[in-house]
Amino acid sequence: MNITVVGAGYVGLVTGVSLADIGHCVTCVDVNKDKIAKLKVGLSPIHEPGLESLMQKNIDENRLSFTSSLKECLKDTDIVYIAVGTPQNKDGTANLSFIEIVAEDIALNISKDIVIVTKSTVPVGTNEYIGGLIKAKTPKDISFDIVSNPEFLREGSAISDTFNGDRIVIGAENDKAASIIEQVNKPFGVPIFKTDIRSAEMIKYASNAFLATKISFINEISTICEKLGANVDDVAKGMGKDKRVGNQFLNAGIGYGGSCFPKDTNALVQIAGGVEHDFNLLKAVINVNNNQQALLVDKARQRLGSLEGKRIALLGLAFKPNTDDMREAASIVISTGLLQEGSEVIAYDPIANENAKHVLSNEVQFANSISEALTEVNLALIITEWREIIEMDFNNVRRLMIEPIIIDGRNCFSLDMVKDKGIEYHSVGRPAVIGETVLI
Ligand code: UDX
Repeated sequence: MNITVVGAGYVGLVTGVSLADIGHCVTCVDVNKDKIAKLKVGLSPIHEPGLESLMQKNIDENRLSFTSSLKECLKDTDIVYIAVGTPQNKDGTANLSFIEIVAEDIALNISKDIVIVTKSTVPVGTNEYIGGLIKAKTPKDISFDIVSNPEFLREGSAISDTFNGDRIVIGAENDKAASIIEQVNKPFGVPIFKTDIRSAEMIKYASNAFLATKISFINEISTICEKLGANVDDVAKGMGKDKRVGNQFLNAGIGYGGSCFPKDTNALVQIAGGVEHDFNLLKAVINVNNNQQALLVDKARQRLGSLEGKRIALLGLAFKPNTDDMREAASIVISTGLLQEGSEVIAYDPIANENAKHVLSNEVQFANSISEALTEVNLALIITEWREIIEMDFNNVRRLMIEPIIIDGRNCFSLDMVKDKGIEYHSVGRPAVIGETVLI
């Protein structure tokens, strides 16, 4: 199949590269000419494990190319994937302006029958709306079908998720379009679930909202565990043994961030509001998460009394490990809180330092290693569970810090691992450890 993917951002690029790798001839289109120039020589604009090498392989094997002209692509493409961003408006609704621009561009340049597939996360009803926009401007002798095919990729493991996903959801208005997209995806070997367009659109929002709910639920439990002297990690493990609960997405910590959960939960509250349903449960999930992101600042203040003039290290800045993505990262809320209370903030991330410099306040100082970040600080906060941070040397903590106090927002270590290490260790939903003592 000849496939065009519009939008060479995170979703579009991973989609395009993966579709090329299973044998399709793919062109990725983006209005950003600098990005296209880099992609043409095999440089990925995002840090995603395995993406750049797979991209280069498919460029070399002539299945993958890049351009800024959608018009050229539409001459001989069979399928157009729309994978442009749907950022959040101020009121929490999804901003569809990029989608509308692409729809107009397709309508004005379409020259043969095609299938249009929406990858972007869009509110229920949007695919029909896009269909209407395109139909209004398309020549009468050309026909097209719209298919909703939401993505469920996690940053940091997007390539592996594509080839080992739990399901591919295809929402179509007729069997012909659904079976074309089913055939396109078959080589991935991932189970395919076919449904109508509106249900497919809802599956994406409902899945993300449900996962966010699991995280906020375990974070609430963690707060209660802390007050009662229980260990939330063991509680989550014990809960997860029940297959109905499942053992994933029950890691307590400083809440969810990233490009999807915050945006999609807010959008779903708005979607529900649009049909006069007050989604109280999801509103609470969002509230819990907002409080949770600020948790480490409260813990730091409680431990040090006042944060004024204290030097505090932030270990990990990206919203999760294996990505340089700073979108909705807890480090933004935490560094802002610390600076407001008069602390000096020394930040370190193995990969995201450069992106973080554009996002965090310019009062934040950046270190080039964990050791540099720990030097002469009063306290270290663990924000992101990078392997390098999980494997850090506690001798450095004792040797370099003014006082060896760690507050771990990601429960990177078991309590046994930190006992007897000569450090003071606080985490989320678990007893503190001071030297040899676990404080229940
Ligand atoms: C998510 C969805 O998993 C994916 O299906 C969707 O397509 C896009 O959004 P992503 O945002 O890349 O993917 O990361 P994910 O691994 O889901 O983590 C999201 C956030 O939740 C991170 O900030 C992570 O630290 C946090 N999280 C995750 C927890 O706090 N606890 C958990 O148990 C799991």
